[in-house]
Amino acid sequence: MREQFSVRIQRQDGPEGRPYSQTFQVQRQPDMNVISVLQAIAAQPVTQSGERTTPVAWDCSCLEEVCGACSMLVNGRVRQACSALVEELLRESSTIDLRPMSKFPVVRDLFVNRTRMFEALKKVRAWIPVDTYGNLGEGPTVSPEEQEVMYPISRCMTCGCCLEVCPQVNDASEFAGPQAIAQAVLFNMHPTGKMTAGERLQALMEPGGVADCGNAQNCVKVCPKEVPLTWAIGKAGRDTTVHAVKKWLLK
Ligand code: SF4
Ligand code: SF4
Ligand code: FES
Repeated sequence: MREQFSVRIQRQDGPEGRPYSQTFQVQRQPDMNVISVLQAIAAQPVTQSGERTTPVAWDCSCLEEVCGACSMLVNGRVRQACSALVEELLRESSTIDLRPMSKFPVVRDLFVNRTRMFEALKKVRAWIPVDTYGNLGEGPTVSPEEQEVMYPISRCMTCGCCLEVCPQVNDASEFAGPQAIAQAVLFNMHPTGKMTAGERLQALMEPGGVADCGNAQNCVKVCPKEVPLTWAIGKAGRDTTVHAVKKWLLK
């Protein structure tokens, strides 16, 4: 087993900075993941050529693939750094390549600003409005059959992987993206959320809504939580059509 391995990182000093590449040598340790690699570099930020540099910036929180904050391109594939194991990555290539996601503005180095995704959730009203936090007693029940459909969608951790691979998500488009569409579908299925389903469907019919999906189906392939994105997009498409027809009939 080699004692050291190389890590090439695409760096950027700030939102307006130009990207550049630096390579580091990292001491191999048992059970390393990409976060522990970045921690090792932060402890001793010296490049392969011996140049002292600034520690690499990245985002993370849960360290167990739950928060989605550490998403980045690892060896060209969008995924979470905390669950990317060094031993597996070195089987793919002798150098580990780390880059920030490309569909979100870079804050610094591997740390991106995922606001676009949270704004999309606001746009499609992906929540259930409540008028009190007092005890209203038991809420309506959700059948096991409905739970089976809803639970996989609820696993979304707003990591951004599906937006990263979606050709319709780019600087020139307003497309809300697959995760926001899926969350609107989830809240429309909830017994309380159903009461405001029309508002979410209306938002999905606006520019940047479900009609902007090009059906490339890249999103569903990369979702680490196996959210049934294409199913949800299909349902959103059908539900918005029914909503539009109902609105027309009620004119
Ligand atoms: S199916 Fe739609 S949302 Fe998913 S990657 Fe393709 S265009 Fe994007
Ligand atoms: S749907 Fe999947 S890939 Fe997209 S943000 Fe949620 S967890 Fe990430
Ligand atoms: S740190 Fe939360 S998913 Fe990686």
